[in-house]
Amino acid sequence: MTRFPSGVGSDDWHRELDRLELVSRFHETARNLFDEGPHLVSTPDLPWGDAVREASVEAYRRFVHGETWITGGGAREMEAEIVRWMGRLLGAEEPAGFVTSGGSESNMCAILTARQLSGRRTGSVVYPDNGHYSLPKLCAMFGLDPVPVPAPAEGLHLVDPAAIEAAIRPDTIAIIATAGTWAYGSIDPIEAMSEIALRRGLYLHVDGAFGGYILPFLERSGYDPGIPPWDFRLPGVCSISADLHKNGMAPPPAGTLFFRDASLLAAAKEICPPNGTMSGTRGTGPIAGAWTMVKLLGEPGYTAVSLASMAMRDELAEGVAKIDGLRVHPGSRINMSLIHSDTLDLRPAADELRARGWMFAARVVPAPVGIVVVPMPHNHGQIPHFLDDLRDAVRLAVPLTGDAAEAERESVSSYGF
Ligand SMILES: Cc1ncc(COP(=O)(O)O)c(C=O)c1O
Repeated sequence: MTRFPSGVGSDDWHRELDRLELVSRFHETARNLFDEGPHLVSTPDLPWGDAVREASVEAYRRFVHGETWITGGGAREMEAEIVRWMGRLLGAEEPAGFVTSGGSESNMCAILTARQLSGRRTGSVVYPDNGHYSLPKLCAMFGLDPVPVPAPAEGLHLVDPAAIEAAIRPDTIAIIATAGTWAYGSIDPIEAMSEIALRRGLYLHVDGAFGGYILPFLERSGYDPGIPPWDFRLPGVCSISADLHKNGMAPPPAGTLFFRDASLLAAAKEICPPNGTMSGTRGTGPIAGAWTMVKLLGEPGYTAVSLASMAMRDELAEGVAKIDGLRVHPGSRINMSLIHSDTLDLRPAADELRARGWMFAARVVPAPVGIVVVPMPHNHGQIPHFLDDLRDAVRLAVPLTGDAAEAERESVSSYGF
């Protein structure tokens, strides 16, 4: 046994690492219905088995020592290749951009770029209120005024573009739309928002954290030819965030921010030198891991992954529809399902599912709780088991009362956003 300088022995360290792995429940990945990559594990749906995931982890390990300064040559090439390949699939002729730590950072960099281009130091940012919490967060960080516009429940939580236009003020520096809203999985009316942005001379950023690495493949495969236009094919769209560590299947932390062209990237670098990113030094492990996913999966691989994920989503929706009192939000265009009820308080059911070992996200809207499931290939074969447990768990749910709104406030900390 080796003894390290601190006095800790290698056996003890291994034991502790084993324990911490167990606490993290890595061994239960199949029952994790809301995981962030790398997701590819053997499943009959994906003929390459574990090979791509293992290659990605190997690349991550080999580049774990690197940083983007002196030893960054290889990672910069990888980053450029990711941006060129995916940016073109998102409809940009000459895309520019970079790898970030995820959706929050990508949104921050985009809006800082918009602020830089506006020539203002302060101002307001207009977005539908179905936007992710990273939007008000970035406004708070950068001294901007958030202007959330109601996306009403009776309109499937989709905003009326006229309401977006009405919310624009003389100090507005940007509009943000979402493709793959958290947790409805819907797509904002981006075509109309693009027209508004062009007409009003405003920067339009699209948050495609969840949708970015699945919608192009679903559209191109013919699975959903009716996906409304949302990417750079709309002339008003200036930037798109898309997360490699979500449907990009890459090991975290890894997101991408794409700009329509190099002039926008240049503005990002002015405000966030030297790369346009929030961080200075970046580790090259995540870039290498993500590049390997992109390189080895390519369009055929991502298409297969996307279709496998959607097949599970559809199986789930079909099963939930047969359970009295439950609904799946109908607006989702991606592999995200929001399970909720108009008549039942599902909090005891959510607790029971957790007690049975399921990992998923929950949110307080619709009140008092909605269960969010994002099936990915590592969940292969689990949906029937989840449905069995859901059926049992729903028996514990109690009728919904008028106190739900109060319950919503109280449950924020335990049920998340
Ligand atoms: C729509 C949307 N945007 C941004 C984010 C933030 O991503 P991250 O947690 O990688 O910062 C999320 C995360 O769930 C999201 O759903």
